[in-house]
Amino acid sequence: MISPKTLLRGRTLSFSAEPTGPEDSAAYDYREDGALLIENGLITAAGEFDTLRADAPDAKVVDHRPHLLMAGFIDTHIHFPQTQVIASWGAQLLDWLNTYTFPEESRYADPALAEAMATRFLDQLTAHGTTTAVAYCSVHAASAEAYFAEAARRNMRMIGGKVMMDRNAPEALRDTPQSSYDDTKALIARWHGKSRAHYAITPRFAITSTPAQMEMAQALVAENPDCYVQTHLSENDAEIALTAELYPDARDYLDVYETYGLLHDKALLGHSIHLSPREIDRLAETDARPVFCPTSNLFLGSGLFDDAGLRARGLTNAIATDVGGGTSYSMLQTLAEGYKILQLQGQKLHPLRAFHWITRGNAVALGLQDRIGTLAPGSEADIVVLNARATEAMALRMERAQTLSEELFVLQMMGDDRAIDSVYVAGVDTRDQASATEIAIS
Ligand code: GUN
Ligand code: ZN
Repeated sequence: MISPKTLLRGRTLSFSAEPTGPEDSAAYDYREDGALLIENGLITAAGEFDTLRADAPDAKVVDHRPHLLMAGFIDTHIHFPQTQVIASWGAQLLDWLNTYTFPEESRYADPALAEAMATRFLDQLTAHGTTTAVAYCSVHAASAEAYFAEAARRNMRMIGGKVMMDRNAPEALRDTPQSSYDDTKALIARWHGKSRAHYAITPRFAITSTPAQMEMAQALVAENPDCYVQTHLSENDAEIALTAELYPDARDYLDVYETYGLLHDKALLGHSIHLSPREIDRLAETDARPVFCPTSNLFLGSGLFDDAGLRARGLTNAIATDVGGGTSYSMLQTLAEGYKILQLQGQKLHPLRAFHWITRGNAVALGLQDRIGTLAPGSEADIVVLNARATEAMALRMERAQTLSEELFVLQMMGDDRAIDSVYVAGVDTRDQASATEIAIS
């Protein structure tokens, strides 16, 4: 029986702005004995435990002390059908796609497989503290159907779309311009705005879409201006060279997407590593969102994302795992590798900005900061409970930590799913959700 009012007690941390530096305490609200009042899937009050308790004496109290409550993590680029591709050896992007990824994605033509994997995929996300993700499904409409249906069953705010791809892939993974339009249109009608879902129109990347398919993507974007767009941009040198061959009239890689009207503030451009000054200008003008995928960029040997350079031009960078090119579902591990990529370029990722990035920062990149990414009253109750002493090595380091920033940095550099003590989705503890499902099945 779920109590109509629940009071979560613990240390609470929520951002109201991006911290400008390690000392910027005005950007966040931190409470040693904080509480969140949850009603009907929303956070209806946040503050000191004693105050909230006095105002809600009937609420059920769940005591998470000494752990840290934050908004659930947001992963802005991940591939649902690559759940069993992660950790595939030895290749860079194009070989990796052809050798491992495309054969695996072919399996998602089977709706039963897609349904079974959707359950396991979303289990992985919440086990790693991620409560919202933006996912590429396979080319098969059934994979997107399975993804959205499972997300709806769990009441998760999820974004996704079936990939559109009509060339340079095995037959089993190719759609046509018309079928990609029809399937996407039907999926938008069925899922966009239903439950907590949003649709992302998803031409996979320039290499796997003919100009005729790009025209269909253009039509879909024009007809559905409040849908997201997701694709890949300038990840790898060989990819960029092949794109130039396939689109000889394009001024550069971004120009392909620009020509077909795909760029706006809901366009998420995975990787965006090797960009020309013109491309950066156009990204700034269109307000499209580059997505930094640290573990993937290192794993596939793709290159170093210039976070500071793009930010200096006013761009809003998102951050993501890119599983299965990425090597971890954990946004904490993603921050750890992101920190190292910035180090290699003389850039810094301090822990306050890091934790802002994977919560409110990614919510801002998605235009969803009024719903997710913070613990502010009115937000949806997607919450992660973090334990910075989850492993012996972390506990040892924490013996010498004196500040919140130090604790956050331990989580940032050493944390993974073991540091995720609990996760709430729309106010429901995901462990209760799992046991409810088990009971329903047995
Ligand atoms: N470019 C096109 N498809 C993919 C993909 O699945 N993963 C990555 N990392 N890059 C891509
Ligand atoms: Zn990707």
